[in-house]
Amino acid sequence: MKRSFKILLVLSILVLFVSTWAFAGIVKSDVAAQWAKNEGAGKTSFTFIVFGDNRPTSPARPMPEVVKVMMREIGYIHPDFVINTGDMIIGYTDTVEQAREELLGFIDEYYKYAEDVPMLVVAGNHEIRPGDIVDAYRPLFGKKLYYDFTYGNSHFIMVNTNFPGKWLEKGQKYGFYNINDGEHKLAMADWFKEVLKVKADHTFVVQHVPLFSALSPNFGKHPKSFKTKENRDEELNLIMGADVDAVFSGHEHIVYVEKHGETFFFTLGGGGAPLYGTTTGGYNINTGEGPDYAKLTYDPAYENGGRAKGYHYDLHLPAGALSIFSYMLVTVNGDKVSYELLIPHNMEVTYVKGNDGIANEAVATVANRTPFERTYKGIKFLMPYSESGYEVYGTQIDWARKESQVSEDKAPKILEVKKINDYQAVVRVAVTVPGAFSIDVHVKAK
Ligand SMILES: [Fe+2]
Repeated sequence: MKRSFKILLVLSILVLFVSTWAFAGIVKSDVAAQWAKNEGAGKTSFTFIVFGDNRPTSPARPMPEVVKVMMREIGYIHPDFVINTGDMIIGYTDTVEQAREELLGFIDEYYKYAEDVPMLVVAGNHEIRPGDIVDAYRPLFGKKLYYDFTYGNSHFIMVNTNFPGKWLEKGQKYGFYNINDGEHKLAMADWFKEVLKVKADHTFVVQHVPLFSALSPNFGKHPKSFKTKENRDEELNLIMGADVDAVFSGHEHIVYVEKHGETFFFTLGGGGAPLYGTTTGGYNINTGEGPDYAKLTYDPAYENGGRAKGYHYDLHLPAGALSIFSYMLVTVNGDKVSYELLIPHNMEVTYVKGNDGIANEAVATVANRTPFERTYKGIKFLMPYSESGYEVYGTQIDWARKESQVSEDKAPKILEVKKINDYQAVVRVAVTVPGAFSIDVHVKAK
């Protein structure tokens, strides 16, 4: 073997190793099915978070700070996995190299907070539509631009609504098209019909563009989402003919939900990109009097008349369409599924002692600012490495300022000890915190 060839071989192996390691938390589309088969085996109860539309305001501008808060909270909540519904970057006007840098910047930021929470992605128009930037996207997130996986008792179908512009025919834009990404036997629409037949307790569809647009519900000349009603209905009819629990989308930078039959259609575009409407829409939403609970009235003095105005739309927002930064926590529990919208800063972790890898005891105050009890599985402590392990307990302060230990059944638990070198380890703890309350988590090296 020639020397130069040997060097090249060693370098290639090294690059392969480094790249595998560097993107361990991103589950590429090409390996998603295998990943889910291994990680989800036998699970009937698990959680996942959906977020997306995290892009900056405009080209060459930094990632929104609010995304970092969401990522930090994803790390604390520590769901089984995360789904991103696309538009992580600006993309438009980017060279392939610029797109790659921006995507790596996003991944890098995510890894700071939640490297051990797997993330799966569907591409948005901003990742793959302009120019050749799909060439930056695919090495990082996988070659397959549509894919499916079965995690435990649930089947996930990741649909592409935004193929690269040059793959589209005249008149096509955002929508449900029968295009093959070169990685499948079947083109996408045909493939979708097939994968909808997969049997599972729950079926979730994920796609960037929503089937029910809040911003251009009647389509029109320049619809914000699906190009035509006919094309939207083609996909919608397939979904309505199958037993789909929910469709998760983004693209429109608002939070919006419709329910048709037994299927929820979520638009979760509050990931940090500029918001499209007024915060609440009009007033008198849900006056508590039927039959029209969703009645909205408008006054220009309040919330700009509840109006959303942009290139694609100029309308009163439908009832319930909110312009708030947010992400969704989904809990699958046997045959039940629940969906909770979380806004950033709904929880907080403050280290009040130790957590420096030196002190034998560390304490973190975990605050739950939601009205519901919540379990956080990613409270981490940097501790000195201890051969004999660690002990953990929780304390609380009641409204009479009395401090007490958290009862056995709600006590924090050590989930993982990761030795990082001969002297230090990261201890990951789960803690359940009642709504509107705080718990101190104490970790001691034995
Ligand atoms: Fe989008």
